Amino acid sequence: MITTEELSRLTHIPLKTLQGAMRQKGIPEEKKKITPEESRSILDGLSLSFKQKSITIAALKGGIGKTFLSSNLAIRLSMMGARVLIVDLDPEACATNSLLSQEQVESEEKKTILEVCKNLCTFEEAIWPTKYPLLDIMPSSLRVAKTERIVNLKNPKTLLRKSIEQCSYDFVFFELPPSFSTLSAAAYLASDEIIIPCTPNIHSLESVDLTVEAISEVAQEFECHHLEFKIILNMFNPKRTASQDTLTILRDEHADLLLPFCIPESADIQNAINSGLSVFEHRSKPQVREAIDLLVGSICSLKIGERSPHTSIPLTIPLEGDKSATEISATLQ
Ligand SMILES: Nc1ncnc2c1ncn2[C@@H]1O[C@H](COP(=O)(O)OP(=O)(O)O)[C@@H](O)[C@H]1O
Ligand SMILES: [Mg+2]
Repeated sequence: MITTEELSRLTHIPLKTLQGAMRQKGIPEEKKKITPEESRSILDGLSLSFKQKSITIAALKGGIGKTFLSSNLAIRLSMMGARVLIVDLDPEACATNSLLSQEQVESEEKKTILEVCKNLCTFEEAIWPTKYPLLDIMPSSLRVAKTERIVNLKNPKTLLRKSIEQCSYDFVFFELPPSFSTLSAAAYLASDEIIIPCTPNIHSLESVDLTVEAISEVAQEFECHHLEFKIILNMFNPKRTASQDTLTILRDEHADLLLPFCIPESADIQNAINSGLSVFEHRSKPQVREAIDLLVGSICSLKIGERSPHTSIPLTIPLEGDKSATEISATLQ
């Protein structure tokens, strides 16, 4: 569930316009919280849809928040009414274990990318619904580690991209282990955007450079020139020197890729994960929820349906002034 105020803030659609669309869809406009399906139908009523995007939260280092960020972004986007798919390619299967029920996790029916690559099932047949409406997952399990032997004979450029292009999700997130493989190369080549988390320590900084370098090499080799890189500083604590030093180095060395906000360090995040919830249901600190929402804003844009099919309105909250809010309000009036 999402509040109408939150949906208005995230989409830059004036609250009054949202309430008008709610009336038209028979949803009581005084309703404070709406379901993902209601949110989708409201946007639909305004002839708005999400601009499709596939994203990998990538790093050649573990424990820096890749899974936390991709699952919370995916959940939040689905709350806004987007159809979202997580393709779990990490044999550790942390996203799978937190998003599926115990019964689903243990089911013998469960298919993974291994069965897809062995042609034992189609890409779509391996996808399962999660406990969140509009959010699906291709599960993983330890046996996904065996996929490499099969996929290293295939072309990474088409391995995942073709399947993604054929499915109708608004957002696809690839969940990867912190190592380089043909399967991870296939995920990079099927992505529009790579978000690299960095935490306040020297090894994480090293991993940012290595990750950008490794992915750029793959993109160049396979002539994939559309990839957009972003870096996000996670676990930021303004009181710690290491946090401030890391921020200074990232600003000096990656000013063009660094997002203009950080994800704060917070015990709430661990507590939310332990309860199997996103930071939005767990009611974590507002700063944590706001930071995830800023990240949502940086990847999400809406396009206007029949009126102007090729116009997309960036919902990014830019550093200087927010023109997109006025732009979208003007278009919708
Ligand atoms: N901003 C944060 N503040 C505090 N703990 C965090 C934060 N981001 C991630 N964590 C914790 O760090 C650990 C590793 O996160 P995870 O997403 O599993 O990393 P990865 O997927 O990169 O291995 C988890 O226990 C998670 O709760
Ligand atoms: Mg992980």
